Amino acid sequence: MLSLNIVGAGRLGKVLGRLAQDSGRYRVAAVLCRERAHALEAAAFIGAVQAVDTLTDLPPADLTLVAVPDGAIAAVAQALAEAKVVRPGTVVFHASGACSSALLTPLAQQGAQVASLHPAFSFAEPERARQTFAGSLCALEGEALACERLAQLVAAIGGEAFYLPGEGKAGYHAALSIASNYLVTLVALAEGVAIQAGIEPAVARCLLGALMRQSLDNALALGPEAALTGPIVRGDVATVASHLAVLEPEQGDLYRALGQATVTLAGARLDAVQKQALREELGSGEWGVGSRE
Ligand SMILES: NC(=O)c1ccc[n+]([C@@H]2O[C@H](COP(=O)([O-])OP(=O)(O)OC[C@H]3O[C@@H](n4cnc5c(N)ncnc54)[C@H](OP(=O)(O)O)[C@@H]3O)[C@@H](O)[C@H]2O)c1
Repeated sequence: MLSLNIVGAGRLGKVLGRLAQDSGRYRVAAVLCRERAHALEAAAFIGAVQAVDTLTDLPPADLTLVAVPDGAIAAVAQALAEAKVVRPGTVVFHASGACSSALLTPLAQQGAQVASLHPAFSFAEPERARQTFAGSLCALEGEALACERLAQLVAAIGGEAFYLPGEGKAGYHAALSIASNYLVTLVALAEGVAIQAGIEPAVARCLLGALMRQSLDNALALGPEAALTGPIVRGDVATVASHLAVLEPEQGDLYRALGQATVTLAGARLDAVQKQALREELGSGEWGVGSRE
């Protein structure tokens, strides 16, 4: 059985700890938070775990999870290195999606194997997260041996691991943010435009929700290019102009930016004349989605 210490047993730390403990293949040795009450609460949630007050109280462990907020990881890594509690050859990892394992360099310099393990999952409520985590994809990045050991941890807690290069972390996290956050922004944009057109808010949400779910399912099943419908891919400049005429300035800016990217996405489904006409109607910005054109 491998032992695991958790520094920062908040929303993510306590759930990963509980899943590891429940797997029967890991034993959570100790948890540490800033507030002792929080460490005790996490220890109770994980079960049969010691809550410690300082880094120097951490017992030796095979793996150390640094699950503090992203902005505190580097300082905690430095403090762990100064406390000399991480043994050479053991694994230290953090759970940030945006940052690489380079944040753990002071520990790598002492012989630890460093990596990052980012579950693409929201740990909003611990008990619910524990029950629904199975099948979640987890991005691993860092030293090969550490990634190998963390892939075993991911499998033990019911996740599915995949590998990322360290320099890919920012792009990986940007993709997740676009997919989750900007989808929400699109809901708000579309609802605002519908309400301005005189549609009741509750009706607008139903109307747009059904269409958005259908479009998302199509894009994921068929691929974005094949799933694209609507005035842009039809080359219907007059309809695009009628849309722009009723939008508020900020709505129009977003419509134009997304419209330019949609012209690029339409690719060979539009001829050069249609593309030129659409781009002129949408404004002259240099928008695009990668190198599809
Ligand atoms: N939450 C998610 O859904 C999610 C998903 C994927 C990845 N992540 C990543 O997981 C990591 C942790 O996020 P989280 O949402 O779990 O944060 P969180 O709920 O705010 O928990 C952070 C924990 O770190 C502790 N802490 C903060 N500074 C510390 C320090 N200097 N020394 C020791 N403990 C310290 C806090 O202690 P106190 O409670 O005493 O303040 C708290 O227990 C981040 O890297 C985040 O990007 C989170």
